[in-house]
Amino acid sequence: MLTVNTVKELKSAVRAAREAGKSIGLVPTMGALHEGHKSLVDRCRRENDVVVVSVFVNPTQFNNKEDLRTYPRTEEADKALLEAAGCDVVFMPTVEEVYPEPDTRVFDLGPVAEVMEGPMRPGHFNGVAQVVSKLFMMVEPDRAYFGEKDFQQIAVIREMVRQLGFKLKIVPCPIVREADGLAKSSRNVRLTPENRAIAPNIYRLLSESLDFAKSHTVEETIGFVTEGINAYDAMEVEYYQIVDGITMQPIAKWDDTNYAVGCITVYCGDVRLIDNITYFRK
Ligand code: PAF
Repeated sequence: MLTVNTVKELKSAVRAAREAGKSIGLVPTMGALHEGHKSLVDRCRRENDVVVVSVFVNPTQFNNKEDLRTYPRTEEADKALLEAAGCDVVFMPTVEEVYPEPDTRVFDLGPVAEVMEGPMRPGHFNGVAQVVSKLFMMVEPDRAYFGEKDFQQIAVIREMVRQLGFKLKIVPCPIVREADGLAKSSRNVRLTPENRAIAPNIYRLLSESLDFAKSHTVEETIGFVTEGINAYDAMEVEYYQIVDGITMQPIAKWDDTNYAVGCITVYCGDVRLIDNITYFRK
């Protein structure tokens, strides 16, 4: 595995691969890698000749300075995981390398970015679009892999790809969960032992709501999940919305969509957890 820190080295590594007629897959990450990331790298490994992984905690997508400061950074462990997973090139740049000058681009990402995480985390999706578009320009991958835990992020990246005309395939990959159901996340390590013990109830309630939804309205189903989670003193639902899985727009009735997905964010203590569940896809 080749570790590169500069854009020049990265481009020269991918140019050599492309000139040899090889397909290139990219897995963008912010490091603190876990089994969820490994599943993306594994899929990328199966589908491409060359696997490139970026490890970069992108400051422009953090609307909260404290979150950026405390975001886990585990460079050596990340390299070991990537090496074992068969990654070919890992790109670990500095902030100055990615942003030699401030990125002043403002994306109009439309309705998919105007709901849920959009208003909750102002500037977040713009920062994601900035860094992911830069990575796409640097690597020019054939395929790029993203986890469905950040379900809305995938829709936003698809929109950015459409607007900028990138010729690549976005590959969404299923959520990987702990044995007790908690979605794997780099933020889970920040949970206190007490809160780690109750956090799996998020997925428990989401799962139980699949059955509940069969005989209840969208609004009642939202109430079932929200009240069930809020019954735990240390947990508070920030939002639970049931949306169309393509447009991200909230639905009022089950008949409003062919693809219903419930997207949730919950404060578990002071850690913000995110998860989602698909009710149906016709
Ligand atoms: O999902 C993430 O880890 C980040 O938002 C991404 C896509 C790597 C961009 O920094």
